[in-house]
Parts: sequence; C-alpha cells; structure tokens
Amino acid sequence: MDFNTLVPGKTGLAGIDVDALLLVVVGAKMPATLEGPLGSVIAEAVAAGDFALKAGQVLYAHRVAGVKARRVSFVWAPDAGPKAMRRAVAAGVALVKSGGASQMAVAVTGAAPLMDAGAAEALVLAVHDATYVYRATKPSAPSVPKLERVTLVCNPAEVDALAAGLARGEALAAGVALARECANRPANHCTPTYLAEQAQKLGKSHGLKVEVLDRKDCERLGMGSFLSVAQGSEQPPKFIVMRWMGAGKDVAPLVLVGKGITFDTGGISIKPAAEMDEMKFDMGGAASVLGTMRAVAGAKARVNLVGLIPACENMPSGRAVKPGDVVKSLSGQTIEILNTDAEGRLILCDALTYAERFKPAAVVDIATLTGACVIALGHHRSGLFSNDEALAGELLAAGEAALDPAWRMPLDDEYDEALKSNFADMANVGPRAGGAITAAMFLKRFTSKLRWAHLDIAGTAWRSGANKGATGRPVALLSRWVLSKAAAPAPAAKSGRAGRAKKA
Ligand code: BES
Ligand code: MN
Ligand code: ZN
Repeated sequence: MDFNTLVPGKTGLAGIDVDALLLVVVGAKMPATLEGPLGSVIAEAVAAGDFALKAGQVLYAHRVAGVKARRVSFVWAPDAGPKAMRRAVAAGVALVKSGGASQMAVAVTGAAPLMDAGAAEALVLAVHDATYVYRATKPSAPSVPKLERVTLVCNPAEVDALAAGLARGEALAAGVALARECANRPANHCTPTYLAEQAQKLGKSHGLKVEVLDRKDCERLGMGSFLSVAQGSEQPPKFIVMRWMGAGKDVAPLVLVGKGITFDTGGISIKPAAEMDEMKFDMGGAASVLGTMRAVAGAKARVNLVGLIPACENMPSGRAVKPGDVVKSLSGQTIEILNTDAEGRLILCDALTYAERFKPAAVVDIATLTGACVIALGHHRSGLFSNDEALAGELLAAGEAALDPAWRMPLDDEYDEALKSNFADMANVGPRAGGAITAAMFLKRFTSKLRWAHLDIAGTAWRSGANKGATGRPVALLSRWVLSKAAAPAPAAKSGRAGRAKKA
C-alpha cells in the first residue's frame, strides 16, 4: 500500500479521480467550504435526517452526479486530531472495503485547523488496521480488495508536514503488522526457533545485527532462571539479541526486553483448559520488540536500540521445573519457584541482568505478565511501572500521543514483603492481591543498576472473543518513545557533493 498527498485542482474535491473518496466532515456546523455537488449531497442528507453532525454518522453515496470519485463516504468527526481521524477512517473504510476500491482519497473539510502530521500518521495506521487480514494458517480467509493507493488531500502549505506524517505512519504500520503476524501465529508455528528466524530475517532486510544464544550459551552465562522455564519443553530455548546502531558508537543505547513465551501452559502449576489457546499470545512482548525494531530501523532513526528476547515454552513434563525448586539467576540471586505459572518474570529477570552489559540509557521490558493487570486496568491501558520518574513520564506521554495509552502503577517497598522466601533470596510469587504489582516488584529486584520501566500488556496485546487476535500493541507507544530520543535526521546534502549526482 502506498500513501501520498494531493493538492486538488480548480475542480476541487469533486474533480479527484479515485475509486473512493472518504470525506471527513469536521465540527458542529455544516462546513461552508464544502460547495458543489458534494456540499449538496450532505446538505440534503442532513435536511432529510439521513446524516447528522455527530458521532458515529456515516453516509455512503454511489456515483454522485458531477463527482469524479465513484464512491463517497461521508464521516463526521469532532475535530481533525489523531484520535478522531482513527475513528473516522475505521468507520469510513468499512464501506470502501466491500466495494473493491483500489485507490482511495481522504479529505478533511470543516473548521480550521485541519490535519497535522500526527493525524496523518494515525490515518495510515487506521487504514492498515482496517484492512489487515490474518492468512498465515487460514488461506481461505475472505479476501479484501487490495487498496493500492491512499491519497491524503491537503493545501499546498500542508504537504511537507503531512507527507512526513504519512512516511512515519508507514514505518510504524509495518512494525505493527509484524507484531500482529508473529503473535497471531499458533504456537506450533511460532516457536522460539521461529522467533529467532524472524529476528534474523529482520536483521538482513533492515540492517540490524542479530545474535541468537542457544541453551549452551545461556548455561555458560549462568541464566539459570530463564533455563528453568525452558527445561520442560521439547522446543529449544533461544535468547535473541538485536542491535540497531543508528547513532554514534559512543551513544548509550535504549534496550527493549520482550517476554517471549511462545506457549504458556502454566507448567506443573498447570492452567485450566478454558481459553488456554490464548496463551499462544504470551509472546506478545517479544512481538512488540520485533515490531518496534522494524519501525525504528524502517525510519532509519538516529538512535541506538537493542532488542532482547528470551524465548521458550512453558510446559509440564518429566523434566519440568517443580514448585519449590530453587534456581540461580544470572544476577546471582536465588529464586524459589512456588508457582511455575509465574514464568514470565523468571525469563525476564535474566534478560534484565543481561541488559546491564550494554550500559543502556534506559531499559523497558514488555510482557503479557499477569492476569491481575487485566483485572486492574481492563483492555484499554497497559500497566506501566518504573523506578525513574522522567522515564515514566516519557512513556506515558508517548502512549497518549500514539493512541496506545498506559497507566502508571505503584512500586512501593511495602509490596516487596510478599516475595520473602525461607529457602531462597526471593519467591517468584506473592498472594493474589496486587498480583501485577508483586510481579513488577520481582523484576525491580533485578534493576538496581538500570533506569527501568516495565509494561504489563496482558490486557492490551490481544483481543478475545469473536475478534480474537493480536493488536500489535504497544509498538506504537514504544516506537514513538524511541523516535523521540532520536537525533534529528541529517539535512539533505544541498550542494553536489562528490560521488552524488544531483537530481534535476
Ligand atoms: N501469561 C500469564 C499472564 C496472563 C494470564 C496474561 C491471562 C493474560 C491472560 C502469566 O504467565 C501467568 O500465568 N501469570 C499468573 C501469575 C500468578 C501465578 C502469580 C497469573 O496472572 O495468573
Ligand atoms: Mn504463566
Ligand atoms: Zn505467561
């Protein structure tokens, strides 16, 4: 799919020659700017009660006389901000989707100011979101007519900003799509080995350095906690290290750590059967790291970013770790595993310790960590925990701006009491109450040398029910944050430098 901008000619919106025109009508008053046949359609529809200037209103018109676009969807929006744009596109694209349109134009009409770069970015994401179909293991999935080109109609003064927003949106959308594709794949396809292959592939296509540590490597390092989770499975564990070096060698990197449990049965503390299939999504954190690496590398951002993914299955077997077993983490601290279903923290703690070697500016781990977080925050906001005020503020702001919101949760010392053990430095679980917080407190014990944040995405990484599937969250939040840390791109060379032909 291709996105571009267009400044309409003398004939205005009516003269734009596309399969479908999505016209977003902004504001509480009929826009005076909308004249001609399109203006008449909407005025008549309002008069007849078929369209109103309020939320949820969509009007579809076919072959309007005097309008070049074959189909027109009118959608109302309260303003032209990113959120409104996302909703408008979601509502409007549905109509275009069924009609076999391969080129669509989107125009905003109404009270100024109209779109900005952020809204253009949101538009790209919304179009991709509305047209995404999972096919990897369902080739019979109904085919959606392929949208080849989406054109954003704007004023000459807006072209540069909106084109930049569209380009950012495309890099981001590719990252979101990669995360969804990985997470949607069933666990017999998406194994730790598959995740490692995806990382290698991404490395080749996007210029990342990728290294995959196997069981032996992890043993040598002393990742006893990670390996204790992996030991019950026939699938070999993989510890994936990805590096995007977009800034100078001496610039401290940001590190992302993604939970990569490709299937979580609970292990010996086995889960109930109902909805256990959804535990294929337990690598959603890993998927979001892959997706963010792709978005950041795709944008050629001038930032150093390391992605770490401890990947394994959590299975019960004769070799599986048992309740009461004590293991030694890479940090040297010992852990009494009271519940083998609290495995995410056991793989993340070794990855967090491993992150220290990069002397990072900040570390963010992303994990479908606790059912308790879903109880606390539902499916709208991810849980955010951090030992650093500034970092927490940055991530919250990135989430708001990217329409991928999070909510800060506490890390008071009082919660740490719950992790006391008579047989090791700590237990891996506390009581049920405050479960998302004790999980974060466990991780905090491995982050004393780091500026660290933890995102619990158990409620936001996938949807259940009829629309079951991965959301691609929080790729948008993470990418926005990482890109906010990037140095501005080098200005395009102006004079004809040696070896570089200047285009006419
Ligand atoms: N992957 C699960 C968390 C989860 C459960 C996410 C349901 C989304 C929906 C995690 O490994 C887990 O099993 N956590 C336990 C922790 C408990 C044993 C302390 C949980 O949340 O029940
Ligand atoms: Mn579990
Ligand atoms: Zn899990």
